[in-house]
Amino acid sequence: MKRLEEKIAIVFGAGPNIGGTIAHFLAREGARVAVSDINPDAARKTTDFITGRGYEAIALAGDAMDETAVERIVGDTVARYGGLDIIVNMAGKVHWSSVLDMELDAWREAVLSFPTAGMLTTKHAAKAMIAGGRAGGQHHPSSVDRGAFRRGIGGGLLHRQGRAVEPGALGGDGSRP
Ligand SMILES: NC(=O)c1ccc[n+]([C@@H]2O[C@H](COP(=O)([O-])OP(=O)(O)OC[C@H]3O[C@@H](n4cnc5c(N)ncnc54)[C@H](O)[C@@H]3O)[C@@H](O)[C@H]2O)c1
Repeated sequence: MKRLEEKIAIVFGAGPNIGGTIAHFLAREGARVAVSDINPDAARKTTDFITGRGYEAIALAGDAMDETAVERIVGDTVARYGGLDIIVNMAGKVHWSSVLDMELDAWREAVLSFPTAGMLTTKHAAKAMIAGGRAGGQHHPSSVDRGAFRRGIGGGLLHRQGRAVEPGALGGDGSRP
């Protein structure tokens, strides 16, 4: 039996790069995967890659910084697959320029996008997991403007660690809100 058989996952920011690779690996382990990206073509490309190898995936386009869109994506996933166990958030805008060349608007976008998508995807996925009585897992592996920190000021890499939604972690026992 595959390790994620019976599991249902959403990957936000799942264009054909790191997020898409994670979506593929989840599907390869047996999960049914909603592939979500702000760019519908990117979501479709990753989904085609996964389904082309015989695994299960659907494309759900949307902006992970838009609360209505996140709620819809979570709701459509639950409606399609019957629940939610795993989310991975890779949605955000990466800027690779050095701090010497960094524009303030680009900095703000880089710093704000991943945590904002992280908060919204955590919130609505956790609600769906609690409503379904499922103790799921959430992972937010993105770095906050890695390039600027690494190349510009030589350190300060900010990683947000994944945090499992275990029974009790959200103030309940995993079987009720
Ligand atoms: N590529 C690397 O070498 C590398 C290395 C280490 C860490 N990282 C980190 O991993 C993360 C992802 O990197 P990547 O290279 O895969 O980035 P990427 O830009 O290729 O992928 C991000 C995806 O998120 C999507 N996206 C952007 N904003 C969105 C939004 N609001 N809603 C939904 N989707 C949205 C984009 O369309 C894109 O498909 C970043 O935090 C980056 O710093 C990347």
